[in-house]
Amino acid sequence: MFAAARPTGPPVARGRLPLIGHGLHMWRRPLEFLDTLTAYDPVVAIHLGPKPTYVLTSPDLVHRVMVSDAARFAKGRSFEKLRDYLGNGLATSEGSFHLRQRRLMQPAFHHAQIAHHARTMARLATDRASSWRPGQVIDVTREMYDLSLAIVTSTLFSTALDEQIAAEIRSTVPLVLRGMYTRVLDPTDLWQKLPTPGNRRLADAHRRLRRVIDHLITSRGGGPPAGEPDLLTMLLTAGDGTTADTMTDQQVHDEVVTLLVAGTETVAGGLAWLFHELGRHPGIDRQLYEEVRRQGAAPLDFDRLAQLPYTRRTVDEALRVRNPGGVTIRRAVADVELGGHHFPRGTEFIFSALVLHRNPRYFPEPTRFDPDRWLPDRPAVPRGAFLPFGAGSHQCIGESFARAEMMTTVAAVASRWRLEPVPGSRVRGVMTSTNHPTGLAMRTRPRTATAPF
Ligand code: HEM
Repeated sequence: MFAAARPTGPPVARGRLPLIGHGLHMWRRPLEFLDTLTAYDPVVAIHLGPKPTYVLTSPDLVHRVMVSDAARFAKGRSFEKLRDYLGNGLATSEGSFHLRQRRLMQPAFHHAQIAHHARTMARLATDRASSWRPGQVIDVTREMYDLSLAIVTSTLFSTALDEQIAAEIRSTVPLVLRGMYTRVLDPTDLWQKLPTPGNRRLADAHRRLRRVIDHLITSRGGGPPAGEPDLLTMLLTAGDGTTADTMTDQQVHDEVVTLLVAGTETVAGGLAWLFHELGRHPGIDRQLYEEVRRQGAAPLDFDRLAQLPYTRRTVDEALRVRNPGGVTIRRAVADVELGGHHFPRGTEFIFSALVLHRNPRYFPEPTRFDPDRWLPDRPAVPRGAFLPFGAGSHQCIGESFARAEMMTTVAAVASRWRLEPVPGSRVRGVMTSTNHPTGLAMRTRPRTATAPF
């Protein structure tokens, strides 16, 4: 008599350490660690706490969890932890409340609004690029972060921000993002309760950010500013005007924090990686420059962005190979079968765009930066294999905003400068809720009629 074979669960990722599992890898070298997971198909277990978390590596399973079977999944424990920072904003809310908020906020991200914001983006990107001097070495990540923050704050609050307020936002948002990531990774929930200097800095940054935003909302008491409505006006006036269908000041507050946090470092990381890739690929940089130059010197408006197909493919390729988003987490609210395995209710799943986007099954030579893989005559990418902005009811509300910002910025910079790598600088990917490069020093070389490249 043979005993019936016990069903084996999904494989466990290599590198699991006693007690801390894979936590150290996710903390110290998350990008390298995530890269190793593409080898597993369709699902692999990693240990970040007492129970395993399952990383979905197949587009099909990701599509099921995010879209077709989404009713069986909720956002999970990590998002509960994020509520301390983001309140009940769009990124952390669920169910009917999330749907209502999404409906109320969607008009603020409609085509006409993005077209209006694109003018602000082009102006701010042009100002920033014009402030550099020939031969200057710039910290590209820092420059893109400052620019993205200026863009989000200018579109949220169209009135020019007092420099002190802008400085508060600039210094607090990265601390809050870093703190959020640490909290999500801490399986014990004890770390953040310790009175360490880092935790004190985070608590202080969070308090200051809340105070500044409260101030910005309450100072709107006198009514919206003249001209096109900014995002804050759209939030404050969203709905049909009945108390059942408008946002309270607290809700507006949570949404503003969410937009600041979700819309700054993501775009900055995407742009910084994009300039890194253009620096390493002079041929691609040249082609992009020539396309932008054909558009003339005037800042680009939203409609003219459609006339930059090569630039768009380059942005897509950066979003693929260097996806700046973090990992997305879901928890099963019922028992589920995925990839031939049974998972009880309460199991947590992770999906990482980087893991999907660097899979050689869907992207041959996945680490090669090649905008032409997005040419319309190339084989279509399977559904769920390219998801820089997520999918389903929680798909990024800022996708068009982010794309317009990346396009206008790369066009504004590339038409004036070639950003060249500085020999000896050590560029490293860092994950703090988002994936962005550090150590990205680049030298500005002016494009002149005689030496445009
Ligand atoms: C390249 C830049 C960006 C990337 C890669 C990105 C990526 C993502 C992803 C993957 C999600 C889904 C998360 C999930 O399903 O749990 C998301 C959600 C979200 N993003 Fe973005 N994002 C970017 C830019 C922005 C911008 C510019 C804004 C706002 C101005 C924004 C606001 C949001 C919000 C509010 C959500 C929550 C949506 C919901 O749950 O309904 N994002 N983003």
